[in-house]
Amino acid sequence: MTKGNDTTITAELYAYMLAHNPPLDPVQRELVETTYARFPDHAGMQSAEEQAPLLAFLVRLVGARHVVEVGTFTGFSALAMARALPADGTLIACDISEEWTAYGREAWEKAGVADRIDLRIAPALDTLRAMPAEPHIDFAYLDADKGGYIAYWEELVPRMRQGGVIAVDNVLFHGAVTDPEATGPAAAIQEFNDHVNADPRMDSVMLTVSDGLTLSRKK
Ligand SMILES: C[S@@+](CC[C@H](N)C(=O)[O-])C[C@H]1O[C@@H](n2cnc3c(N)ncnc32)[C@H](O)[C@@H]1O
Repeated sequence: MTKGNDTTITAELYAYMLAHNPPLDPVQRELVETTYARFPDHAGMQSAEEQAPLLAFLVRLVGARHVVEVGTFTGFSALAMARALPADGTLIACDISEEWTAYGREAWEKAGVADRIDLRIAPALDTLRAMPAEPHIDFAYLDADKGGYIAYWEELVPRMRQGGVIAVDNVLFHGAVTDPEATGPAAAIQEFNDHVNADPRMDSVMLTVSDGLTLSRKK
């Protein structure tokens, strides 16, 4: 038997971890606060605070110039990734909500990265299918409706360049992925995780970051 995870993340430990990460800048902080104040029932959809520096780190690590985000909400993760892009980099942000993404547009303007973000308001599957078919995406972040994950994956994978990385959020789905009776989005995530595991085109690792994050690299 191998050693399991023996560190329980208490509130104190979580705060310690955040204090040892790059801090959110004032625009990011304001966006988090505005999202919680304006959309208290939906703010939990926002990527966790530690995911912002992690996504930025990964964008830099792969030297990304072409980034795609599936699921933008109020623009927190897009802001983190856009900031990490070179000046001529682009991020295509897919969402269906004008209302939620309007807050993102405002924050992106304030942060001076709006010119790098191409927001497409449409079902993400339509936006992905309209993209060039050849491999050109360096980094993608998948964080939208869970029932669509496999379809998004199947549109993204052929478009990823060799060595490009897809990061997928919520792969532990609040712990429900171990429930054999799971239905709805939890069952969709179970099916998705098995799909990723069996995909010979990609090398994948599942991490216990926040609600579970899979990182997958195109072979
Ligand atoms: C979990 S939130 C994204 C959070 C965001 N990444 C962040 O860190 O703030 C999921 C988003 O997916 C969007 N969404 C749901 N179904 C969609 C679809 N079919 N096409 C595109 N976006 C969709 C929702 O409008 C919502 O904004």
